Amino acid sequence: MSDPPAKRLFIKSYGCQMNVYDSERMAEVLRPLGYALTDRPEGADLVVLNTCHIREKAAEKVYSELGRLKEMRAEKAEAGQGRMGVVVAGCVAQAEGEEIIRRAPVVDLVVGPQAYHKLPELIARASRQMGERLAADFTPEEKFDALPKAREAGGVSAFLTVQEGCDKFCTFCVVPYTRGGEYSRPADAIEAEARGLVAQGVRELTLLGQNVNAYGGKDEGSSGGLAALVRRLARIEGLERIRYTTSHPREMDEALIAAHAEVPQLMPYLHLPVQSGSDRILRAMNRGHTIEDYRKLIDKIRAARSDIALSCDFIVGFPGETDADFEATLSLMRDVGYASAFAFKYSRRPGTPAASMAGQVDESVKEQRLARLLELLEQQQRAFNAAQVGRTVDVLFERPGRHEGQILGRSPFLQAVHVQGPQTLIGQVAPVKIGAAAMNSLTGELVASELARVLA
Ligand code: SAH
Ligand code: SF4
Ligand code: F3S
Repeated sequence: MSDPPAKRLFIKSYGCQMNVYDSERMAEVLRPLGYALTDRPEGADLVVLNTCHIREKAAEKVYSELGRLKEMRAEKAEAGQGRMGVVVAGCVAQAEGEEIIRRAPVVDLVVGPQAYHKLPELIARASRQMGERLAADFTPEEKFDALPKAREAGGVSAFLTVQEGCDKFCTFCVVPYTRGGEYSRPADAIEAEARGLVAQGVRELTLLGQNVNAYGGKDEGSSGGLAALVRRLARIEGLERIRYTTSHPREMDEALIAAHAEVPQLMPYLHLPVQSGSDRILRAMNRGHTIEDYRKLIDKIRAARSDIALSCDFIVGFPGETDADFEATLSLMRDVGYASAFAFKYSRRPGTPAASMAGQVDESVKEQRLARLLELLEQQQRAFNAAQVGRTVDVLFERPGRHEGQILGRSPFLQAVHVQGPQTLIGQVAPVKIGAAAMNSLTGELVASELARVLA
């Protein structure tokens, strides 16, 4: 059988790491149909927007992009280059599918996160309806045995989804509605996918889930929770580093904390969102824990792994948040000390309980609080980076840097590290003496005496 003609596929991710991972899987599932990835939408035969619904801004971006695609499609048709198919995938697709079709006729197909495996079939059907063949040479079997097929262009660091969905129902959040309930993949399938990735040169895996540390529980083949899964993956020869994200404080169990103390591949970096430093607000958010619980948890984690770097998400301007509540958030931040964090202005999401709560906070107040929070975060991030200067840290090199002779990697604490060094180090861990620190990266020098050993 001859190869199908190469068609250009452009996929854009708007959301979290799981959204990025899903984009990769969509590319895999479409590859047997003859689609090859391209890095720009102009002239593409198929454009997939993998959308995010988490905040209003993220969701609205999609509609402006669809406006641009409408023009691009017309240009392509005028140039006699055939038709551009437009697919909206992701969490906006799940939440507002019908509205998308109504507002943006340019869209051929809307597909939610639970249905990506059906993409080839859906595209074939959509293209038949349009009287065109978007999906030539489609063989359904290829889709079904596609399951954990790893990507072709091998990077050093890869995402691997182990858990999906959320049963927590924080009152501000759309995820339980767009992604459905918590589901954990069987450990056998995860290990197989991990081994496939490592065989292709991956040296670091970031295990993904909306509540990744809730991994396990009721689902078959996932017993022992995330700690057991991490220990199992740590036995894979060639896998140097394991990370996971995003965790919920309520799911941070003793076994996982112990794994941080005992599994060398498990990196000393933990993204553990608290959202607010005020008990009153945490209650209104339905987070299911207090500030006291969170502080004790942090103490326990630091007792197990004293050098662990902490990262967090915060929301400012949740309904009812007073100046005093906000000050409590700042003081929690000061006490804990974060290596990095994300901060968001509360965004009212249709259908979530908080959207109709009394005491919605003015946009200008949200802006002010966000600015103050970001200022403190920036100080903490700079201080954290500066503290590395003079130290020697292990860096996993991922790719060439922007400058001649430069290579770029990450410290155990997820900091970007630039050094002058040979490309042959890409995919390897080597010690680097840190010479300087900025807000978003470090620079340093390879430790010469160690280099011969690493390169041998
Ligand atoms: N499951 C993860 C987070 C998923 S969403 C957790 O529980 O932490 C990522 C982040 O987006 C959240 O941590 C929160 O800080 C932010 N977020 C979610 N909904 C939001 C909203 N309505 N407005 C502003 N930020 C929001
Ligand atoms: Fe959203 Fe809360 Fe679930 Fe995180 S735990 S995904 S913030 S509902
Ligand atoms: Fe966005 Fe969906 Fe992820 S709403 S943050 S893409 S789970």
